[in-house]
Parts: sequence; C-alpha cells; structure tokens
Amino acid sequence: MMKTNSGGTILITGATAGFGAAMAEKFAQGNYRLIVTGRRAEKLEVLANRLKTQYGSEVLTLCFDVRDKAATEAALGGLSVDWQQIDILVNNAGLALGRDHFDQANMDDWEVMIDTNLKGLLYVTRAALPYLKKSARPHIVNIGSIAGKEVYEKGNVYCATKHAVDAISKSMRIDLLKDKIKVTAIHPGAAETEFSLVRFKGDQQTAASVYAGYEPLVAADIADITWYLTQLPAHVCINDLVVTCTAQANSTLFNK
Ligand SMILES: NC(=O)c1ccc[n+]([C@@H]2O[C@H](COP(=O)([O-])OP(=O)(O)OC[C@H]3O[C@@H](n4cnc5c(N)ncnc54)[C@H](OP(=O)(O)O)[C@@H]3O)[C@@H](O)[C@H]2O)c1
Repeated sequence: MMKTNSGGTILITGATAGFGAAMAEKFAQGNYRLIVTGRRAEKLEVLANRLKTQYGSEVLTLCFDVRDKAATEAALGGLSVDWQQIDILVNNAGLALGRDHFDQANMDDWEVMIDTNLKGLLYVTRAALPYLKKSARPHIVNIGSIAGKEVYEKGNVYCATKHAVDAISKSMRIDLLKDKIKVTAIHPGAAETEFSLVRFKGDQQTAASVYAGYEPLVAADIADITWYLTQLPAHVCINDLVVTCTAQANSTLFNK
C-alpha cells in the first residue's frame, strides 16, 4: 500500500531503539515519509519493513555512525532527488557511557560521548541543512537531557555534552532565524529505553535499578511530545522543553 498524501519527510537519527524508534512509529502513523538512521543495519531493516507493512510508509534506511564525518556526509549527501526535501530533523542519536567520578572515569568513554552527542549532531545537521532549506516548514528537534540543564554527581562529561546540545540549540535558533527554521530542544528526564543498558555496558541489573520504585517516562511519551510540537501552526515554535516523569523533580530527586 503506497500513500498518496505525505504529511512531510522526517529524518530521525538513532531510530534503532528507544525514542528514535518510537518517533518513527508515531510519524509513520501520521503519514510522514521517514529517513531512519543508526549503526545496527538489521534493526533498521526490521523497523522499516514493519512500518511499510503496517502503515504503508515510505522509509529510507541509512546505516552509519554519526561520529564518522565522512560517512555521515556520504550517507546524507547522496540522497536521491525524491528524498532531497526534509521537513523535520530529529537529532536523537546519543548515549551516556559510564557513571564514575571525574578522576576515575574512562577517558575513552568521554571521547565517545563527545563525538556522538555533540560532534555527531553537528555533522548530521550540517549535512541535512540543504534539504531542510528546501522545506516550507523546516524544523530541527534536538534531544538534549535534563543532564544538560543540571549537572549531577558522576555525570561529568555526559552532562557537559548535553549542556553543549542546549547551547548549540540556542545558537542554531539565532543563526538559522534568517532561514525560518524552527529549533526545539527537548530535555528528557529518566526514560526506560536501552539508555541505561548502554550506559552500564550490558549490566542488566544495574540498568533495571535506575527505573525501580517509580514510573519513569517511556519512549512513546517523548514521541508524542515531538509529534505535538512539530504540528503547531507555522508561527509557533516551542524553543525549549524539560520533560520528566511525575516522580522526578530534578536531575537527582525522585519520589521512590
Ligand atoms: N533514556 C533516557 O533516560 C534519556 C534521558 C535524557 C536524554 N536521553 C537522550 O535521548 C537520546 C536517545 O536515547 P534513548 O533513551 O532512546 O537511548 P537508546 O534506546 O539507547 O537509543 C539510542 C539510539 O542512538 C543510536 N546511536 C548511539 N550512538 C550512535 C552512533 N555513534 N551513531 C549512530 N547512532 C547512534 C542508537 O543506535 P545504534 O546503536 O543502532 O547505532 C540508538 O538507536 C540520546 O541522545 C540520549 O542521550 C535519554
């Protein structure tokens, strides 16, 4: 089944899991054409096939590592003509690695977080901008974190990268004003995805303990919010949004 009336085209990075996968689902339901990215090719294909079968969506999968500037430019620079207008870019791909005091943290983990959360976001955005500029209603949504608003113990470099996402979102809003590009930063609190499993390097027990004793956000909550804020009238832009579950007051205080 092929759709005739597309709602637009959305590019979502990090769509193999968590927020990105839930957003792909939401925007497929909403009649969008989808460009979904991630490093795990098999997961991308499973997602794309499901969305095509279930919703009749047009889906383009791009498998690359956002840390790799050349690969990012090659993947996004080589889009065929019918994919060269993008209405929404969601910079979602990202991760935390480790939870250690500054003097004990693994410096390789720091490099990965900086390269993914900050530099990857910059590479993807620069590569996608020519396509966004062809849209009548271009919108960039950057996924930051509550860690980008308040630092917490043992959060050091993850918090720094998300503070950088906060800053670069403000800069984009200023510098892209002339291009009429909306820029929204969403800063989620604790959400149960693969996030903690990645942070604790496959330690399922420690990852599960992060979400014990309260009801955290789930990926669909962030997907629903992303849908809402991208469907507002052309003259309305939500700039900045901190979203937590009701049981979370700030980056460290929970009602458990
Ligand atoms: N869950 C939370 O509590 C929470 C809270 C605040 C902010 N966030 C932020 O929300 C975003 C999404 O996280 P999530 O919770 O949905 O985590 P997740 O379930 O682990 O998903 C992360 C996604 O990012 C992709 N990714 C990671 N490194 C990548 C790389 N180098 N190149 C390309 N893609 C990469 C992963 O795909 P591949 O592994 O296939 O590459 C995956 O699709 C992240 O930026 C995270 O920092 C999460």
